[in-house]
Amino acid sequence: MTAQGAIEYFTESHSVEAVNGRVGKGTDPRFAHVMARLATHLHAFIKDVELTQPEWAAAIDFLTRTGQTCDGNRQEFILLSDVLGVSMLVDAINNRRPAGATENTVLGPFHVGGVPEYPMGANISLAGGRETCLFEGRVTDLDGNPLAGARIDVWSDNEDGFYDVQQPDLQPRHNNRGVFVTGADGRYWFRGIKPVSYPIPDDGPVGQMLGHLGRHPFRPAHMHFIVSAEGFETVITHTFVKGDDYLQSDAVFGVKDSLIAPFEPRIGGDTKWVSSFDFVLTRQAAA
Ligand code: BEZ
Ligand code: FE
Repeated sequence: MTAQGAIEYFTESHSVEAVNGRVGKGTDPRFAHVMARLATHLHAFIKDVELTQPEWAAAIDFLTRTGQTCDGNRQEFILLSDVLGVSMLVDAINNRRPAGATENTVLGPFHVGGVPEYPMGANISLAGGRETCLFEGRVTDLDGNPLAGARIDVWSDNEDGFYDVQQPDLQPRHNNRGVFVTGADGRYWFRGIKPVSYPIPDDGPVGQMLGHLGRHPFRPAHMHFIVSAEGFETVITHTFVKGDDYLQSDAVFGVKDSLIAPFEPRIGGDTKWVSSFDFVLTRQAAA
């Protein structure tokens, strides 16, 4: 309504007010706030770039194809969020931690549940591999006290850069995956292979977009970890292979300095490499 009580129709200059003025009184306040801010920023963006009609049609076509690429195994919208930096930004806002605590990074689409729990020292590389690696370290609180009963859920790609779920006919189920639970000393150790860098799935609309932007689809080599312990914030993270060529240009912006881990030759051991990394968890805020 205008000051005179007349209905305010949609105009270029009053576009935001026209849209936000329609929200009903009973709307959930958080939803109403988020949608009002979305309209404000979205309209400002469209006015800023003076979006043309062919560009708008191309955007609708892109989003349509992104949706059509999704199925039970492929989530192209999360991939879009990842390459736009949205996944990492939402993660950063929601997981602010004190100095010294292990930082989060992107979960990615290749985590699966129901993975076997192994005793410490087990080899998760069911298909074997040349670059054998011992992963080891401790799970502690911020004061360095060991956390007993911490659950460590790990997964990585194989030597060709593929997760088991991407090659169900070629790799054994649960290849390069496992769950370990720490004892009283908070220590973990397991065998696997040194991960390699790989491209995110780039045969769909998101890959095409990266190509148009002159961006490569690669992620630096990494081992995924979810570390959880009762009473502590769960850490969803990776360790990145120190020296990898893609550390500075991860397609999904997941790299943090504190997550770059040494992968050293292991002299005299039964694996070729060793990677040591400690996880530091923060206590959950009291309810
Ligand atoms: C991954 O690290 O598994 C991943 C993360 C984001 C997009 C694609 C893959
Ligand atoms: Fe990964």
